[in-house]
Amino acid sequence: MGLKFITAEEAAEYIKHDDVLGFSGFTPAGSVKSIPVAIGNKAKKEHTEGRPFKVGVITGASTGDSLDGSLARAEAVKFRTPYQSNPDLRNLINAGKADYFDSHLSVVGQNIRYGFLGKINWAIIEACDVTEQGEIVLTTGVGISPTICKVADKILIELNSFHPQRLRGMHDIIIVADPPNRREIPIYKPSDRAGGEIIKVDPSKIVGIVNTNAPDEVGGFSETDEITEKIGHNVAEFLSKELKLGRIPSSFLPIQSGVGNIANAVLGALGRHKGIPDFQMYTEVIQDSVIDLIAEGRITFASGCSLTVSRDQLKKVYDNLNYYHNRIVLRPQEISNSPEVARRLGIISINTALEADLFGNVNSTNVMGKKMMNGIGGSGDFTRNAYISVFTCPSVAKGGKISAFVPMVSHTDHSEHSVQVLITEQGIADLRSKSPKAKMQEIINNCVHPDYRQALTEYANLAGDTHTPCTLSAAFGMHMEYEKSGDMRNIKWGDCFR
Ligand code: COA
Repeated sequence: MGLKFITAEEAAEYIKHDDVLGFSGFTPAGSVKSIPVAIGNKAKKEHTEGRPFKVGVITGASTGDSLDGSLARAEAVKFRTPYQSNPDLRNLINAGKADYFDSHLSVVGQNIRYGFLGKINWAIIEACDVTEQGEIVLTTGVGISPTICKVADKILIELNSFHPQRLRGMHDIIIVADPPNRREIPIYKPSDRAGGEIIKVDPSKIVGIVNTNAPDEVGGFSETDEITEKIGHNVAEFLSKELKLGRIPSSFLPIQSGVGNIANAVLGALGRHKGIPDFQMYTEVIQDSVIDLIAEGRITFASGCSLTVSRDQLKKVYDNLNYYHNRIVLRPQEISNSPEVARRLGIISINTALEADLFGNVNSTNVMGKKMMNGIGGSGDFTRNAYISVFTCPSVAKGGKISAFVPMVSHTDHSEHSVQVLITEQGIADLRSKSPKAKMQEIINNCVHPDYRQALTEYANLAGDTHTPCTLSAAFGMHMEYEKSGDMRNIKWGDCFR
C-alpha cells in the first residue's frame, strides 16, 4: 500500500458534523496549519447553506491561529479542551457559544484512553516524516499525539517540510500502561528517555497526507520591561539564597517554568544570576530564552513537551541540530508534566498567577471569577508536586486599577496548600510553614503594591481574629468595586463590613 497524498480541502471533506477531532501539537508548536483552515471554510459553507456543522476539538494545549482561530471564526467548535489562548476562541467561549472544559494537561491523554472524553473520530497530526510502515516523526510539539493516533478511528497527516526530517531522535514517545497495570515512568534525571523516537500506527488508518511548508505560528515575546526584569531578579535572588542556606542541593534542581512573557523573563534572569549554577529544565514549554541559555551552557539539558520558540530561535536550533539533539528532548504531556516524575526529580516550579489572595490561594484562569483567560495548563501538575512551588505576577494589572492581591481569590486553581512562594516586582513572600495570619502579613509586607497596602491592611484588621481571618461580605469587596467603578483603589471597606 502506498501513502495517499490529498489536498487540505479533500481532507476537510472527510470531516462530518459532530465528529470529534484530536489534534497534534502543543502551543502553536507542532499544531496543524492547513487542514483546520479548510475545515473552517467547510463549516462556513455548510452554515450558509443552512446545515449545522460543529466539531469537538481536543488538543494538547493552545494551538496556532490556523486551528483555534479558523474554527472559532467559523463558529464550528462544539466543545474544546484543554488549554487555549486564541482571542477569537476565548471570545466564543466567554460568549457561551462553545463549550469549554479545563483540565490539568498531564491527564488529557489518560482521560482519552479511559474513555472519559468519548469516541475520537480523527487524529489530525503534523509530521516531518511518515513512512509506508506507519512510522510518524512529529515536529516541534508532542502533546497528546501518541494517544490520539492510538485511539482515533482514522488519521490525517500534514507533512510539513518546513521542519527537517532530522528532527527524528528529538522525541521520546511513550504511552504508559493504564491502571491496574501501570508501572513507574523510568525517568530519574531530565535527560533520561523512557520511550522511542516515533509514533507507530497501523498504516491502513492513515487516510491521507497533506503536504505543507509552514512555520509554527508562534508569536514573539515582548521585550522585558522594568517590572518583568524585577520579578525575574527577585526569583533568582530567592533561589540563590535557598541554595546558600542548603535548602536546595548544591547541584541545584531542575526548573519548570511557565508560559508567557514573565516566565521568559524569569528564565533570562536565572541565566544571568551569578548565584545560580548551570541548571537543567524539566518543563512543559521550551521558550526562547532557553535556546540561548543552552548555547551559553547555562542550561545543560531541557526536557519539554514543545519547542515554542520564535522563528529566529528555531533557525538557531535547526542550523545546529546536532548540538541541540543532545540537549533537548520532547515528550508527550503525560510525561513532561507527570506528577510522579516532577515529585521524584524535585523540580522547582515557577508559574504565573492572575491573582492571589492573602492566604496564598492562586487564580490562574478566571478573570473576576467568570471569564476564562487560557486555562490551568500544566501549572497544577507541577505546583502540587514541586520541591518548591513559586508563583510570580506583577503586583497590579490594568495600569494599577486591579490589585493582583485580594482578600479572597474569585476562582481557585492552586490552593494555599500547594503554593509556597509568591514573588512580584515588590518582593518575595515566603509562605512555607506559616499560619494563615502570618501569610497575610508576609504577603502585604512583601508583594502587595504600595497603592493597595493600606486597604489590605485595613481588611486584615477588620476581618476578625479567627484562624483564617475572613469576612464573607467583604471578601470580594475589591472585585465588586472594580465592577462598580472600574478601579479597585476606590474600595471603602465600611460599606462591605456593615
Ligand atoms: N484581573 C484581570 N486581568 C488580569 C489580572 C487580574 N487580576 N492579572 C492580569 N490580567 C490581565 C493582564 O492585564 C493581561 O491582559 P491584556 O492581555 O489585556 O493586557 C492578561 O491578563 C495577561 O497578563 P500578563 O501580565 O501579560 O501575563 P502573562 O502573559 O504572563 O499570562 C497567565 C499570565 C496567568 C494568563 C498565563 O501565565 C497563563 O495562562 N497561566 C496558566 C497556565 C500556566 O501557568 N501554564 C504554564 C504551566 S507549564
